[in-house]
Amino acid sequence: MAARKKVTVIGAGNVGATVAQRLAERDFYDVVLLDIPQVEGMPQGKALDLLESGPVYGYDSLITGTTSYDDTADSDLVVITSGLPRKPGMTRDDLLITNAGIVKAVTESVVARSPNCFIIVVTNPLDAMVQLCQKVSGFPKNRVIGMAGVLDSARYRTFIAQELGVSVEDVSAFVLGGHGDTMVPLPRYSTVSGIPITELLPAERIEALSKRAANGGAEIVALLKTGSAFYAPSASVVAMVDSILRDKKRVLPCAALLEGEYGVNGLYVGVPVKLGAEGVEQIIEIKLTGEEKTAFHNSANAVQELINVMREKMPEVGL
Ligand SMILES: NC(=O)c1ccc[n+]([C@@H]2O[C@H](COP(=O)([O-])OP(=O)(O)OC[C@H]3O[C@@H](n4cnc5c(N)ncnc54)[C@H](O)[C@@H]3O)[C@@H](O)[C@H]2O)c1
Repeated sequence: MAARKKVTVIGAGNVGATVAQRLAERDFYDVVLLDIPQVEGMPQGKALDLLESGPVYGYDSLITGTTSYDDTADSDLVVITSGLPRKPGMTRDDLLITNAGIVKAVTESVVARSPNCFIIVVTNPLDAMVQLCQKVSGFPKNRVIGMAGVLDSARYRTFIAQELGVSVEDVSAFVLGGHGDTMVPLPRYSTVSGIPITELLPAERIEALSKRAANGGAEIVALLKTGSAFYAPSASVVAMVDSILRDKKRVLPCAALLEGEYGVNGLYVGVPVKLGAEGVEQIIEIKLTGEEKTAFHNSANAVQELINVMREKMPEVGL
């Protein structure tokens, strides 16, 4: 059997440590969990704890905790979760400049040691951070992808399944656009075993469920009070890792660099993509109604505004 693929997770906080746990439990990957020297011992402690779960849970994955990028060398895939999460009352965009500095430095350190890896960015504000990461990395667009749509659609799926009293397994949901308030749920492409939810629910209920999905992150921030969601986000990351490293070619909503698709050029926005051994293997373009097009472009404009702020504050990146 071929050696296990190596996955590095940058940031050993709530999302990062849970991604590491879920990856270890898959038993397909060796995992490196990295955090900053200021918290020396924390990533090592969490990694050792995860390693010691192996005999009970039944996995042989090697999990290494570290503060040294040398341990990340030759990773097949790197997940970037480092950065500040939201506090109650904050939007994802409030995190922009602090997290941009972190993502820039992390990307430079990652690509110096793993020049052929895939990168999945999780840090918020997501679409702006993945755009920055791709620019700093110099990697081709198929190897740098943002996680947001899998999570946003999982939330939508949860609420649709609850509303109809059906299994989440039979619900698929389609979302487009940036991660956040401008996310665009597409009810006519959201189905229960192939039946569009527009056939099953009145318009006002669909509207309420769509709104709840778009505000799903804020709902959890308000409940937790000290941080943001991490169980569903980490599950969403692992679905993307599996699709790439196991060449499953799943079609998942991800932030991908658009170059003309959907009428957008040079911007990362959430769209359906085929994820396989080459990373983003295809961007799937669908016809949008006038109203959907407007919502999608509003969402893309919101991402562009953040890019403009970074362009001004970080001219050296050349965004
Ligand atoms: N894209 C999404 O859908 C999504 C979902 C959930 C969370 N997020 C984002 O993910 C990020 C992490 O969230 P969290 O809940 O894990 O936060 P957290 O505070 O629990 O963990 C963040 C970790 O990053 C570390 N870190 C900070 N600077 C670093 C650096 N330069 N190098 C390495 N590590 C560094 C911190 O020490 C901390 O351990 C946040 O920006 C959050 O908004 C995104």
